[in-house]
Amino acid sequence: NDMLAWQRTAFHFQPEKNWMNDPNGPLFYKGWYHIFYQYNPESPVWGNITWGHAVSKDMIHWLHLPFAMVPDKWFDANGVWTGSATILPDGRIVMLYTGATNNNVQVQNLAYPANLSDPLLLDWVKYADNPVLVPPPGILPKDFRDPTTAWITRDGKWRVAIGSKINTTGITLLYETTDFTSFELLDGVMHAVPGTGMWECVDFFPVSTSEENGLDTSFDGPGIKHVLKASLDDEKKDYYAIGTYDPINNTWTPDNPELDVGIGLRVDYGVYYASKTFYDQNKHRRISWGWIGETDYESDDVLKGWASVQNIPRTVVFDKKTGSNILQWPVEEVEKLRLNGTEFPGVELGPGSVVPLNIGSATQVDIVATFEVDKAALEAMTEIDVGYECSTSGAVARGTLGPFGLLVLSDESLSELTPVYFYISKDIDGSYKTFFCSDETRSSKAPSVNKRVYGGMVPVLEGEKFSMRLLVDHSIVESFAQGGRTVITSRIYPTRAIDGSARVFLFNNATGTSVTASLTIWQMDSAHIHQFPSDQM
Ligand code: FRU
Repeated sequence: NDMLAWQRTAFHFQPEKNWMNDPNGPLFYKGWYHIFYQYNPESPVWGNITWGHAVSKDMIHWLHLPFAMVPDKWFDANGVWTGSATILPDGRIVMLYTGATNNNVQVQNLAYPANLSDPLLLDWVKYADNPVLVPPPGILPKDFRDPTTAWITRDGKWRVAIGSKINTTGITLLYETTDFTSFELLDGVMHAVPGTGMWECVDFFPVSTSEENGLDTSFDGPGIKHVLKASLDDEKKDYYAIGTYDPINNTWTPDNPELDVGIGLRVDYGVYYASKTFYDQNKHRRISWGWIGETDYESDDVLKGWASVQNIPRTVVFDKKTGSNILQWPVEEVEKLRLNGTEFPGVELGPGSVVPLNIGSATQVDIVATFEVDKAALEAMTEIDVGYECSTSGAVARGTLGPFGLLVLSDESLSELTPVYFYISKDIDGSYKTFFCSDETRSSKAPSVNKRVYGGMVPVLEGEKFSMRLLVDHSIVESFAQGGRTVITSRIYPTRAIDGSARVFLFNNATGTSVTASLTIWQMDSAHIHQFPSDQM
């Protein structure tokens, strides 16, 4: 359907057509980044789940490959569901994935590449004696899925975590193995949080508290913390927490119990789910992928013939400055798509101003911006908007110290626009809280799409400017505040702010402060996507 063709992204990963959900088994092998993904070959609606497969040299330009696995065995007849890759010290690759059996029981299966000398890893073998794991006693048959990447402990044994629930308590089970065909369930659970429901797509990885580089999943030693992430099935949201892993007692404990998994920090406050990280041994970094779903009607997805994209992969590190969150940042490779950049230094935004940034079409842009507010205004005020939340009001609601930021995917007349902004609240004790929000409520004239105000708090430290980075790609806006402390992905469906008609504006809707903005906007080139077979790579 040509009318909806402009919604397709130009530099995000998506298959040519049909349905996609979770990223699966990302890995780097013999010079290639591999991504596998949940895919329905037959329609733009979830079903017939198969593993799609693509490779890239930089995670930006892609070559689509034949399906890695299709639901053709009793142990995955109802779907080759989500899984993770582990690269063993001897170079072998182990893929553990969930199969929905012919009886709709969730089991874990083992698969491996048929030919390790093939850098494209085209052919996959399912282990003949699958499944390697079935739901243990006390776990319901449909509550046992999405094995993690395995990590090795000091005694040379591998561990794998699997998400589940008991009643309404979300849990992570831990298994131990030496050969990936027989597993032992370890006593107790690695972690549990009451009231959070089923934990899908658990992710578990170490972060360095002293170094810039990422860590292999098996890394063990001083100066590390462990991040535990769960995708909450009930809310369809990804939550994480930072804590300490105890490999002797097989438990993980959050640093701050009030910010535990499922009740504290979100990986992304927008439309983003089932994220999964991997260690990139090529560039010594940890990278995360996640599924950006649709917020329109299923019938519109059927019309346009496709559904979902993956985010621009993000490097993930521990935030040494705050000590209490991770930082997510688009991989440096995306900067290769930057074309001409335009600088706008020191733009003064009085209260109530909207300033156009004349760069021409702004459907594919990368924006890096900082904002400074009047220090005197900041300090003079007391008790402003205590209890503010992004979701309570959008960018039209004017407060003393916010909102201010950018309007993206806006048409000339501002009949469609998506504001991404900061909003500062101040407590009676004089302390500040800064919120970072993305307001979709005016993003589209289309009636049948879900439009919300997304966002959350972002730590802004003494002496820091307010800073944001936005990746805009036709119908996706990925927004990063303060170097990636808080991230929001918006899935929007503009009908007027498209192609040559899309613009960018600065705005300051605060009543009590002027704002000085400095930014650079780059037009972004499109990624090269090749179908298989291809002689063009
Ligand atoms: C998460 C999820 C996983 C499951 C897969 C099925 O979105 O529901 O738990 O393995 O998708 O497609």
